Amino acid sequence: MKLNINKKLKRIIIVSYRLPFSIIEENGKKILRQNTGGLVSAILGLSSKIQSMNSESFTSKIQWFGYSEHTKEEFDSVEGQSDSFDIFPVNIPSEINKNYYEGFCNDTIWPLFHYFPTITEFENSYYDDYKKANQIFYDTISPLILQGDYVWVHDYQLMLLPGMIREKFIDLSIGFFLHISFPSFEIFMLLHRQWREEIIEGLLGADLIGFHTNDYSRNFINSVSRIRGYEIKMHYVITKRRIVKVDTFPIGIDYDKFSNDAQSERTQNEIKEIRKYIPKSKLIFSVDRLDYTKGLLNRLIGYERFLEDYPEWKEKVVFNMVVVPSRDSIPRYQEMKKEIEAAVGRIQGKFSNLSWKPIVYQYKSLEYFELLALYSTSDVGMITPLRDGMNLVSKEYLACQNSNEGILILSEMAGASAELGEAILVNPNDANELAEAIHQALTMSPDEIRERVSRMRIRINKYNVFAWAFDFINQLTLIKEEHTMLEIKVMTEIIERQIIEKYKNSMKRIIFLDYDGTMVPFSAIPENATPGVNVLELIKKLSGDTNNEIVIISGRKRIFLDKWFSDCNVNLVAEHGLFMRRKGQDWELKKDIIIDKEIKQNISEIMEKYTDRCHGSFIEEKEAAVVWHFRNADPELAFVRSQELKSELFDMINYYSGLQLLEGNKVIEVKKAGFNKGTSVNDFIQNSDYDFILALGDDVTDEDMFQVLPDRAVSIKIGKTQTYAKYNIVFQELVHNFLEGLIKNG
Ligand code: UDP
Ligand code: G6P
Repeated sequence: MKLNINKKLKRIIIVSYRLPFSIIEENGKKILRQNTGGLVSAILGLSSKIQSMNSESFTSKIQWFGYSEHTKEEFDSVEGQSDSFDIFPVNIPSEINKNYYEGFCNDTIWPLFHYFPTITEFENSYYDDYKKANQIFYDTISPLILQGDYVWVHDYQLMLLPGMIREKFIDLSIGFFLHISFPSFEIFMLLHRQWREEIIEGLLGADLIGFHTNDYSRNFINSVSRIRGYEIKMHYVITKRRIVKVDTFPIGIDYDKFSNDAQSERTQNEIKEIRKYIPKSKLIFSVDRLDYTKGLLNRLIGYERFLEDYPEWKEKVVFNMVVVPSRDSIPRYQEMKKEIEAAVGRIQGKFSNLSWKPIVYQYKSLEYFELLALYSTSDVGMITPLRDGMNLVSKEYLACQNSNEGILILSEMAGASAELGEAILVNPNDANELAEAIHQALTMSPDEIRERVSRMRIRINKYNVFAWAFDFINQLTLIKEEHTMLEIKVMTEIIERQIIEKYKNSMKRIIFLDYDGTMVPFSAIPENATPGVNVLELIKKLSGDTNNEIVIISGRKRIFLDKWFSDCNVNLVAEHGLFMRRKGQDWELKKDIIIDKEIKQNISEIMEKYTDRCHGSFIEEKEAAVVWHFRNADPELAFVRSQELKSELFDMINYYSGLQLLEGNKVIEVKKAGFNKGTSVNDFIQNSDYDFILALGDDVTDEDMFQVLPDRAVSIKIGKTQTYAKYNIVFQELVHNFLEGLIKNG
């Protein structure tokens, strides 16, 4: 797709299912109401400070795409718009949205990723609509993407989107952040095979994939390597075409805003109101969306156990449990509400008297200042999800403890517990532990609370939401440089196009093709690695172009190359440059390439010792070389043996001058010195006027040819190791596509 050019500042485009605001009608007037949830809170915080992040590079306004039933015109016409972002609603037909949002997002991924496999629905129609909805997001966004944009996709509702964008915008900076946990492979693999493969590939469309904790990053990497088999190098996934970075960014909050606003007059007034009703009691507070992951029932049962075990606290403590309506169109959430209300009723009935009720239960959204007041005035924040990606409420609670007086009880199943170790950490499944934790919180000395809380506050102040976003965007900007650091230059589609262009515009070309590991994959037995019909056809097509000179440059024996390529109209180089046969001519025999029979025998004898001690390895005698192959041996043992063999062979080479030791891909070879693939390449290109030179090879022995090529040549290493070649094609199976691309466009 052709990109429009944005010559000015770079834009940050946020894509998430939820927009920050919905349009609602109040007193006959349309107004904007802020949506709930950690994601919205985080990005809203970010948008107010984007300018200070990197004003040199980014525009101050964020473009925010999210689902809505309203049109852009309707949004723009409502009063009270923020000047921090532009809203772009994505309209999804309601019949698709139902299966997508209620179905695959919240009845498949949400329960599964939060370790509730038994209530997870595996419905094909849900997945079909998940795909369609991601496509609708793509269709809405793609016409508005400008070159240089940073597209930052958020959360589990949009896991296919990075891949969709990448297919068309191959060089765009794309980031993805998952706001929920990523489960272990055993859980993730419960998804249907096609779904899990497509989800992994969809995510790998991003340049950078972020998770809240190291555990989630590790789980993801594990699934990638188990499901797709890609190689992992530290934080990097080496895909067929690109390198993707996977890293940990624990999301923070707008600490200063919470801390400062908690001291505001409005908050203080709200606190007075609240304390009117509970003047003497200790106050325990919790606020969560209505969700089975939040451990609401467990929390109530834990509180009930506490009241049973510590009756002296009756009339001295109140638990204010606020449950924010969420996903109420989904039956499981409706059921959950009934269960919670039944449990609240039971506990009230059991312990209340005329002047005291142990629980103040509220099912509603809180106004911002009311929330701050509750955070500030409560003695204990009790946040005990059964599983939570991060949990922002726990951090907001701490940010509001300006006098360090309220202690936090936190579930160890919340991502936040990795950073908030000084909280009273609990397993929410254990009612006794919860009861003990409540008792510990209520009886903890003010000094200890202060000590614990101030430490956590320092931490969350430092890694706040701006640091989080800055870190993510910064890493996204650095990603291209990091590829260089990895010392491999993956051939991207852009480079591929440039090579094709060069090829198209040239009249006299020479192409050097290594054989094993380049034209064909390795085989356990070298003789089995014969060129299939497709390889022979490909070579014939290449050599059929009269502008092309093709050289098959291999470590193989002459007899093998003759057998397979004699009718391909190509030049042949055998045994790593020892023998050469130009098109239509006989083999040229270089002088002094044959090793003396007796010496050859000695080499074989040494190698045999190692063959006996390394099951699976074998010796190959070539016309002018002896080779020890260890591809089929146990890799660890073979490594040790190859080191020993090398050292013994070096001694021998020093003794008989004129020999060289060559280390290839799982082979060690001894032959006469002075000839290699580089010398052969020189024979072909010296005193010639080729206007296009291309060389492809996978092995250490191919480095000899890469080194002698002139600067204008295109050299490609197959594989992902360091090389003298200009580019890497990471997987052998991509070589054919690349060559087909040349033929098609040449
Ligand atoms: N919140 C809200 N409305 C309320 C109460 C809370 O928007 O009535 C906010 C709260 O301040 C927090 C977010 O909702 O920022 C909840 O985020 P969290 O990560 O704790 O849980 P999630 O909802 O993402 O599962
Ligand atoms: C969590 C998810 C968000 C989601 C929010 C509210 O924070 O990570 O992606 O938006 O819950 O859920 P809802 O279904 O109302 O969007």
